[in-house]
Amino acid sequence: KTPDAHVPRDPRLIRLTGAHPFNAEAPLTALLRAGFLTPPELFFVRNHGPVPRVPDAQIPDWEFTVEGLVDNPLRLTLRGLVAEYEQQTYPVTLVCAGNRRKEQNAVRKTNGFSWGPAGKRARYVCMEGADALPNGHYGTCVKLNWVMDPNRGIMLAHRMNGEPLEPDHGRPLRVVVPGQIGGRSVKWLKRLVLTEAPSDNWYHIFDNRVLPTMVSPDVAANDPKWWTDERYAIYDLSPNSAIACPAHGETLGLVGGTQAYRAKGYAYSGGGRRITRVELSLDQGGTWRLAGIDCVEDRYRKADTTLYGGKVDFQWREASFCWCFWELDILVQDMLGAKDLLVRCMDESMCVQPRDLYWNVLGMMNNPWFRVAIRKEG
Ligand code: MTE
Repeated sequence: KTPDAHVPRDPRLIRLTGAHPFNAEAPLTALLRAGFLTPPELFFVRNHGPVPRVPDAQIPDWEFTVEGLVDNPLRLTLRGLVAEYEQQTYPVTLVCAGNRRKEQNAVRKTNGFSWGPAGKRARYVCMEGADALPNGHYGTCVKLNWVMDPNRGIMLAHRMNGEPLEPDHGRPLRVVVPGQIGGRSVKWLKRLVLTEAPSDNWYHIFDNRVLPTMVSPDVAANDPKWWTDERYAIYDLSPNSAIACPAHGETLGLVGGTQAYRAKGYAYSGGGRRITRVELSLDQGGTWRLAGIDCVEDRYRKADTTLYGGKVDFQWREASFCWCFWELDILVQDMLGAKDLLVRCMDESMCVQPRDLYWNVLGMMNNPWFRVAIRKEG
């Protein structure tokens, strides 16, 4: 019996690590078939430890604090939050920094969590969850000026797809930081602490970083300077895309040289930056074809749009916080003549996916061109 015996889980989720903690994702084809708004039961899960057990009856009384460099420290319940603060609904895509690469673990002990002293200027909002982990509670931070900017859309979320949050996704309360790696969206939220320095939580320091490529596991384990350099902490997502059709290992029963095969997939970027092009190659990147892009989230920007019964308070945000879908019809004869199909995307800052992967000790932010081998019948 695992510590998560109380947590309902969909059998379609594929486990990425051992039995516990639970880290899982849906097969790409199932994810795309489910469409723009992923149903919670197919949503990827990234847990560092056991899921806190919160009986239904205790949910309204869930408490969290706002403390540190603030004039008025607060202790709020979920009931109070819902009653006293404005409720908004809008779509956001969450992505783990470990997407497209199996995570590796660098293990190194530190002394837990010591918050910045008072009397200083607040620059960071540190966030801490209720999950009890080997190195303390899960915690990390974002910059205070991001939190204060309504265009960034950072929220405390108690519902997902119109329903109370599922246990795996932070029930009853989590942070959602649009456009940034999922690791900043702290689940089972218990504390918000305003500090002058970035979080010194173990999970902020030893997770969700892209260390310089020459830092080997040995070097990283023996020199703390690599871990405390805030420049290596990941915040915004970078451009990334994948091919769902054809799926890896799928054999194409292609006939008729003049017919078209419809290739499909997804793309996203970070920091609110919009995907402005998706390109496909059948010749190892020698030449590229432009795919069509469907930015579904733009449909939610129309006046009076509702989502799960709530009005979408999203119209005024210029930023793009969601994945988009792309497709391209390719002549069957072209598919049959190619070894593989490649995709890459670009965002509005003209930042494009690289050809080669950037190896880093935690295996994070892997976003080189995505490749699917074309397998033909016979
Ligand atoms: N918050 C807490 N308290 N504990 C965690 O283990 N994992 C983080 C983030 N917030 C985590 C957390 C990571 S690395 C990711 S990618 C997202 O939650 C995953 O959110 P999800 O499981 O709802 O998809």
